[in-house]
Amino acid sequence: MTEPAWWRDAVVYQVYVRSFADSDGDGVGDLPGIRSRLPYLRDLGVDGIWLTPFYPSPGADHGYDVANYVDVDPQLGTLADFDELLADAHALGLRVLVDIVPNHTSNEHPWFVNALSSRDHPDRARYVFRPGLDGGPPNGWTSVFGGPAWTCDEPSGEYYLHLFAPEQPDLDWHVDAVPEAFEEILRFWLDRGVDGFRIDVAQALFKAQDLHEVVEPENPTPFADWHTALQQQELHGLYRRWRELAGGYDRDRAFVAEISLEDEDELARFVRPDELNLVFNFAFLHAPWEADALRGVVDRACAAFGTVGAPPAWVLENHDVTRLPTRRGDRPDGLRRARASLLLMLALPGASFVYQGQELGLEEAVLRDDERQDPIFARTNGERLGRDGCRVPLPWTDEGRGLGFTTGVPWLPMPEEWAWQSVERQRGDATSTLELTRSALALRREHLPPGATTGFAWRESPPGTLVFERTTGEGTLVCVVNVAGEPYPLDGAELLLTSTPLAGARLPADAAAWLFEARVRV
Ligand code: NOJ
Repeated sequence: MTEPAWWRDAVVYQVYVRSFADSDGDGVGDLPGIRSRLPYLRDLGVDGIWLTPFYPSPGADHGYDVANYVDVDPQLGTLADFDELLADAHALGLRVLVDIVPNHTSNEHPWFVNALSSRDHPDRARYVFRPGLDGGPPNGWTSVFGGPAWTCDEPSGEYYLHLFAPEQPDLDWHVDAVPEAFEEILRFWLDRGVDGFRIDVAQALFKAQDLHEVVEPENPTPFADWHTALQQQELHGLYRRWRELAGGYDRDRAFVAEISLEDEDELARFVRPDELNLVFNFAFLHAPWEADALRGVVDRACAAFGTVGAPPAWVLENHDVTRLPTRRGDRPDGLRRARASLLLMLALPGASFVYQGQELGLEEAVLRDDERQDPIFARTNGERLGRDGCRVPLPWTDEGRGLGFTTGVPWLPMPEEWAWQSVERQRGDATSTLELTRSALALRREHLPPGATTGFAWRESPPGTLVFERTTGEGTLVCVVNVAGEPYPLDGAELLLTSTPLAGARLPADAAAWLFEARVRV
């Protein structure tokens, strides 16, 4: 019998490996640390985890600069640790996705070291080298991390392309050796038993071969725009091939794409039945706390993805964006809204991704400039603060400066006040965000069982509110989100959960509730 497609409605927990749990006191999270905390994740009620890159890496972009795709960075563990982590996760019923970084390697990857060794080395063709123009780079593209997207290889006088840091040279996917090598890499991890991959910058692998600059009339400065680098039709053939490759394996494996595209229809093309499985919905992550905006995002995604028969994949936080309570406003409103947003997300049809610490309601940590490590900070001369504030390690207990994350010195300093928000302090406290998340995941499993066919429909509701229903054979889960409306009466159904304590039977603004209407059997 075919196994149900587990990924269609899974809740996946993103583990930022360096910051989850440190087993050896060096201040950096590692694979044995994650393994020791798997029961926590099982008890939280998620279906699987996504591990950010743990491969050997010089760390210029904290792991997204990979020097060897088929090993584990010694600071984070060994391949044997990975196997044990995977086996334990599977024994606990948790799927494991690993991160694949195909757009660029580290500058310390042997291919790039060879590429720099001589203009004639065959590995040079794996990268995008071009002669300069008028004494400068081949074109005016800028890097996502600031500064030019080209660095000169002085001995040859040629430039190489890097959409991110200079330590992350872009691969040339038009050269057969590159896709061939990545098929081997995928097989390596599939053979080990992973349940799938999160694909980094999945839209950018093939660049338009003329590397043309784009000049928009309203923005006369040419830039390394994502329109040039992406939407190359070759991508679809590649992902079809990858899906076919994964389809040759016994269990159902999944590909989740990171694609920064606004256009929902364009996004949906990547998850046609024979392509990738899921693609993050970043419009949801970036949507303001406004009822109409949120409803619009949900409608657009459901329409576009419904056409290709793929589920949306919702996300509110990850390791690249400011933590949601901070984005949603000042204290205490930001956290109230973030908690309501979580209930909204977990009631929507499709898969959801929860970023570590989101279940604790952590805010963006404030760091001093000399503590910042994200290359974005240095490369923009401090103009952009970078992403360190959402990557600060997790507080497990209220002890010491490592708050149970490490017995040593955490690689990014942890705010003292996080002792109060630690897992230990929140556990068992019904008002905590940890218990809210745990309850929501348990209720989701009960009322929207994995694999069940569920309907989705909006109900009419006053301005500033969102009300929708999810119907199964057993009854209807109703999600009410009061974004900025009048207190909303919650009667006539069983109240399952609210994101904030109620004043009477009315849901105040900045809050969400789940209700259940049992099916009346005749
Ligand atoms: C997206 C990743 O999420 C981000 O952390 C990384 O810096 C870039 N891709 C480059 O790999």
